[in-house]
Amino acid sequence: MARDPDNVWTWATLVVLATMSTAVTAATNPGLVVRISQKGLDYAHQQGVAKLQKELEKIKIPDFSGSFKVKHFGKGHYSFYSMVIHEFQLPSSQIGLVPNVGLKLSISNTNIKISGKWKARKNFIKASGRFDLSVDGVSISADLKLGSDPTSGQATINCPSCSNHINSVNVRISGSRLGWLIQLFRKKIESSLRNTINSKICKVVTNSVSSKLQPYFQTLPVTAVIDAVAGIDYRLVAPPTVTAENLDGQLKGEFFRLAHPSPPPFTPPVLAFPTNHDRMVYLGLSDYFFNTAGLVYQEAGVLKLVLKDDMIPKQSKFRLTTNFLGNFIPQVAKMFPSMKVQLLVSVSSPPHMSVQPTGLALALALEAQAFAVLPNSSFAPLFLLGMSTNASMEVGAKSDRLVGELKLGRLLLELKHSDVGPFLVKVLEAVMNYIVPTVVLPKVNEKLQKGFPLPMPSHVQLYNLVLQSHQNFLLLGADARHY
Ligand SMILES: *[C@@H]1O[C@H](CO)[C@@H](O)[C@H](O)[C@H]1NC(C)=O
Ligand SMILES: *[C@@H]1O[C@H](CO)[C@@H](O)[C@H](O)[C@H]1NC(C)=O
Repeated sequence: MARDPDNVWTWATLVVLATMSTAVTAATNPGLVVRISQKGLDYAHQQGVAKLQKELEKIKIPDFSGSFKVKHFGKGHYSFYSMVIHEFQLPSSQIGLVPNVGLKLSISNTNIKISGKWKARKNFIKASGRFDLSVDGVSISADLKLGSDPTSGQATINCPSCSNHINSVNVRISGSRLGWLIQLFRKKIESSLRNTINSKICKVVTNSVSSKLQPYFQTLPVTAVIDAVAGIDYRLVAPPTVTAENLDGQLKGEFFRLAHPSPPPFTPPVLAFPTNHDRMVYLGLSDYFFNTAGLVYQEAGVLKLVLKDDMIPKQSKFRLTTNFLGNFIPQVAKMFPSMKVQLLVSVSSPPHMSVQPTGLALALALEAQAFAVLPNSSFAPLFLLGMSTNASMEVGAKSDRLVGELKLGRLLLELKHSDVGPFLVKVLEAVMNYIVPTVVLPKVNEKLQKGFPLPMPSHVQLYNLVLQSHQNFLLLGADARHY
């Protein structure tokens, strides 16, 4: 096929568009996805409907009055007052997912029981009594739209439309000789009450969304401070999305340095979620999330530890002394006889985590600077070792925190610098492969067991946890309980 200029132009345009859309996608990929299944919505809905019921029970019904005219009887006046709702049952209600739109709240078969007083007057004849009213077959339908506030990154919710319908209103009058009179304009009373209640129900629903649900959304953490060094950014990067099965929140999921927040030099991967929905919530934690953690702590220079001889178990034959190291590097014992040795172990480049279906693998590059401690307490540098290893990480969740346990692989050593002349670094491999796992690892795991807070609303606890590793992300599924 001949390549005429038009064709080239089309190609170029497509390539540019394709590149642009890739760039846009890459920039907005979430580091963490929170997925809420229908089961999760059902649970949240149970909690929400109980609150809505309380609000509906508070509906105030205004007094109303009117005049009547009956043949041979003349004109009179009546009023209905002190009306209270004493029951507002919501026996059947549901929350559903409307793909690409939002959520739909549907309530049906609702019964409202109201009681009140009435009085009627015609000239000097007065009558009064009580009445009971039952409003049957009330149905309410409300759309809930979810969004995100681009500046704060918080989720928003509103109720753009609401409708309700009442099947029937029945008044039962008791108490007086003139009760029969009231029966005459029962229709008028019923329709008047129907209009009042009709107009109030949706106001209550819309108000409950804006005054109860929206403030609740604002309690969802958008940043979590972990310690003196780091925080986690849990802001929404886009409005929540709705499919037929799930509600997804795409969160930034990024660790940042409290002192110097700056974007990391890598971007989040695409997360291909499996189609599970037997748990209420799922969290997809991408390797980006873990790698920003590694970057932040490494750059802050806090991933380091000083190892001293007294930290090594008494019964061990490996010691941090010049005499012991002299067994492998004779010049150390010769130049610095009978002295203690200290090792400054640090992480030399940001640890790199990769999440695979087989598990979480961590590539670690460490450095160990050895010093002899002189009799006057000053330090003489001995050598600098580079140590690399492939570690694996086991991750779990405890209530609302993500916890981990690191397992180190074998350390490979490299001599980066020596102040005691050349030596074969291999001779230190056994020593370092004893000291690092015995002394350093438990301290790292102690910190990892304290864990990191998950983005959870307050007073919510997770149980029935499942954890799976997928390509580029870890999937945590759980049921939630409000306490
Ligand atoms: C400690 O002793 C070493 C070696 O004897 C010497 O070089 C160093 O200056 C001394 N340091 C101090 C602080 O006195
Ligand atoms: C880590 O694993 C990779 C891939 O299997 C391998 O090439 C590398 O040598 C390993 N590094 C260490 C320190 O074991």
